[in-house]
Amino acid sequence: MVKLTGKKKIPIAVFISGRGSNLKSIYKYSNTKYSLINIRLIISDKSHVRGVLFAKKNKINTKIVNYGNKNKAEKKIINFLSKNNIKLICLAGFMRILSKNFINKYKHKIINIHPSLLPKYKGLNTHERVIKMKEKYSGCTIHFVTTKLDSGKIIIQKKVKIMKSDTPKSLAKKVLKLENKLYPMAIKKVISKI
Ligand code: GAR
Repeated sequence: MVKLTGKKKIPIAVFISGRGSNLKSIYKYSNTKYSLINIRLIISDKSHVRGVLFAKKNKINTKIVNYGNKNKAEKKIINFLSKNNIKLICLAGFMRILSKNFINKYKHKIINIHPSLLPKYKGLNTHERVIKMKEKYSGCTIHFVTTKLDSGKIIIQKKVKIMKSDTPKSLAKKVLKLENKLYPMAIKKVISKI
């Protein structure tokens, strides 16, 4: 196995909007001996969130992008991406919908994590809806981003069992633990093809 140093690793960007637990797990993976990636850029549409604090504490290049005007925001992001020679974009709790133009520009280069067993429960409030429907299983999915919401090709998906006692909150906690474990695995899987 080849050990790559920081500069030779594949530059990736992570997009966040909040807590950043998936960002943390990707960062942890990027610092392992044989990882092929380096987080060269973090994009956040929010400034005072835990993910941004984590990024700053770890001195990762972070850009807060004002989403008042989506078109302008995406232009700025494209500029940051090209300046940093980004090869893969990981959406990790980024709660904005990217435009068709943006997605087409980075075809097969954007991946997303979603807290459900896609194609079931696309969109928001997944855990509430899953519990309401009395599902036996939920889980998480990492998939390629296409212009159709939460519908691109699945890279990795795993399920967790739902107990009768589970609430949306306890289910979210269980699923998040799985998400944090799976995101680095999904990156490993796609990066070898870049
Ligand atoms: C995660 O549960 C992720 O699956 C979800 O937001 C959370 C972010 O957590 N993403 C979506 O719902 C996207 N549709 P994190 O900030 O701790 O990584």
